[in-house]
Amino acid sequence: MRYDFDAVIDRRNTGSLKWDYPERALGHKDVIPMWVADMDFPAPRQVIDAIRARAEHGAYGYPLTPPSYWAAIQSWMKTRHNWEVKKEWLSKSPGVVPALSLCVTAFTHPGDKIVVQTPVYYPFFAAIKHNGRRIVRNPLRTENGRWVMDFDDLERKIDPRTRLLILCSPHNPVGRVWRREELNRLAEICAARDVLIVADEIHADLVYTGYKHFPLASLSEEVAKRTITLTAPSKTFNTAGLTTSVVISSNPRLLNLFNTEAANAGLTMGNIFGIVALEAAYAHGAEWLDQLLPYLEENVNAAQRFFEARVPRIKFTRPEGTYLALLDCRGLGLEQKALNDFFLRKAGVYFDEGTLFGDELAGFERINLAAPRAVLVQALERIEAAVAGGIS
Ligand SMILES: Cc1ncc(COP(=O)(O)O)c(C=O)c1O
Repeated sequence: MRYDFDAVIDRRNTGSLKWDYPERALGHKDVIPMWVADMDFPAPRQVIDAIRARAEHGAYGYPLTPPSYWAAIQSWMKTRHNWEVKKEWLSKSPGVVPALSLCVTAFTHPGDKIVVQTPVYYPFFAAIKHNGRRIVRNPLRTENGRWVMDFDDLERKIDPRTRLLILCSPHNPVGRVWRREELNRLAEICAARDVLIVADEIHADLVYTGYKHFPLASLSEEVAKRTITLTAPSKTFNTAGLTTSVVISSNPRLLNLFNTEAANAGLTMGNIFGIVALEAAYAHGAEWLDQLLPYLEENVNAAQRFFEARVPRIKFTRPEGTYLALLDCRGLGLEQKALNDFFLRKAGVYFDEGTLFGDELAGFERINLAAPRAVLVQALERIEAAVAGGIS
């Protein structure tokens, strides 16, 4: 079956954070939202049908996750990522963000230090700080325009109070798909200093031509022993509102600690629609994803060509994975708040501002490219017109 990613669906007034927030909270009408990471595409037909069938049943009592749910996760990890995951390594969580927080409290004590590689998905900071742990920043560096890990800085910063590193792989917002050698080096440093790793791999399925995602825990048994992986079908299939994600660790001690923490917080139940949607997506969504990826890649190409040819004052950073990309807007000469305001007021587009992810991104914006091409082009043309109209 052919899927039509060009079809524009109206998401206004559907209770969508992405579409309704700019008007309701910021008071701006007619904004094209290109901020929070969800896509303006409907989920695969099989996912919609599974939810519809479950909804039609009418009895929405507590769920018991069926064996086929776990089997679908195992099969997806095997076929898409060549990773053999055993059933007893699996658990679930109502989202990767809640799981991050549970990992922080399960594996560390108040006052412990936790490493993040900035700029990075900003809920990592909250999960650490709001649980009374200390953030250690191991900033990424740029090398010939490419973001890379700074291993020397990492080695210097780990001390006996450093218990955990939260890895973002692929990395939001810099769009890197980490190479095997990079992950090996990172794991080696963490092993030498007895640091555990939470690998947030929620963007694992969204990788472009020429790149390959390596699940951290698939590198070796040694690495797997100190890793807990958090992932989900939610970025891949646009099901974030169903709050159902996957937790994987071959280390029973880590998985038990996580499960106990989740049970103590009362977060083990899951929801019936998320459960059927996950299973349908992983069991039947491959064909849809195989068509989505080239579509997204062409959106990346279109945005890159557009900025290079028509708005050269903004530098587009091409992502290796994820449908998110960085715009280096320092050439416009505006402070971060003024920059966001300029795009919102003058262009009618709304981005996530760079400094949310770390001071490294002052003067940057993060653009979400997961929209029908016509909507993307409309947004790009608005940006071009606003910049041509003068910066203020
Ligand atoms: C790296 C990363 N982790 C987690 C999430 C959100 O996870 P969830 O919706 O499952 O809480 C996102 C969403 O953008 C993300 O980019």
